Amino acid sequence: MTTITLPGLADVHTHLRVPGGEHKEDFATGTAAALAGGVTTVLAMPNTTPPLSTPEALNAARSTAAGAIRCDVGLFAGASPERVDHLEALAPGAVALKIYLNDTFGPLRVEDLPTLRACFRRWPREKLIAMHAERQSVAVGIGLAAAYSRPVHFCHISRREEIELIADAKMQGLPVTCEVTPHHLFLDERDARRLGTRGDMRPVLGSPDDVAALWEHLGETIDCIATDHAPHTLAEKAGSNPPPGVPGLETSLLLMLGAVEAGRLSLERLEALMAHNPRRIFGLPEQPGTHVEVELGVPATLSDAEVVSKCGWTPFAGMTVSARVRRVVLRGQVVYQDGRVCAPPGSGRLLPSLGRDAGESGEQ
Ligand code: NCD
Ligand code: ZN
Repeated sequence: MTTITLPGLADVHTHLRVPGGEHKEDFATGTAAALAGGVTTVLAMPNTTPPLSTPEALNAARSTAAGAIRCDVGLFAGASPERVDHLEALAPGAVALKIYLNDTFGPLRVEDLPTLRACFRRWPREKLIAMHAERQSVAVGIGLAAAYSRPVHFCHISRREEIELIADAKMQGLPVTCEVTPHHLFLDERDARRLGTRGDMRPVLGSPDDVAALWEHLGETIDCIATDHAPHTLAEKAGSNPPPGVPGLETSLLLMLGAVEAGRLSLERLEALMAHNPRRIFGLPEQPGTHVEVELGVPATLSDAEVVSKCGWTPFAGMTVSARVRRVVLRGQVVYQDGRVCAPPGSGRLLPSLGRDAGESGEQ
């Protein structure tokens, strides 16, 4: 057994479900799951109920977060055709804008060009635009990045045709970046059949050839590993209208370390994909005095029983890993050790920091 030290990880795609989905996850439980997975900064998605597409909803979520988060959290603002007038007012409290071009959980969707143009014209240039874009929608996003000469980040890219198009766009020098999830790297459509609704998410699990393409591009085209931690209860997953989405905060690092052990990527590349690149791309602050201690060479089988997330299950149950997060230190404080989350609610920092004038407690 050896112990290695990694930087605190940054996960730029999680669903913490506040407001409206607190029975699935909340700020305190989701950030506890993050720390258990070695993640010290998370960005939370705006497809809540109501969505974070008005200043009122975003500010209310920020207030709730300030007293509840155990690691650092930033919120995405959500683009919506009815709410384009709010975009400038949303920006100060959000780390980035999320535009949903394709169908997934929740009502946020942008399917018309006037709204897309308004987003690119109104959203401040110093803040990133991230997109849920599948198949030819990726070309739409690349076209907008070129037309407005500003960066676009593609969420959870999952297919060969998409990653190859992004590689072509990067070759042309276009300002595009992308993330890939562990579930799209470690599971495929055969697992979807085995797992039933527990293996259903957007984008759906790909073919073995799609998965091979993602691995081929892990060394260069792919910028980040992001979990798309999307907790739903097992009762919902087993119900008549099962929502898409799977949790992933606690398993992401362990699975990726397995790939390092198997010689599929270097530890240095893992650190770039899971810590340095996400911080650089989204302009997230460094966290001095922060690190993650991981034990390697300790085989374990992933199971629902150990899940910290409120949802209480993992699509990777039954898979073997050989690493374990031993301790997480955030700004000099031990926040996780040997299965126990020690960080109290409210000890994390909210991003971006708006200071005391915004009336938000919990910020330092
Ligand atoms: C996400 C969710 O549950 O909010 N579901 C999913 O299947 N990925 C939404 C999303 O990220 O598309
Ligand atoms: Zn998502």
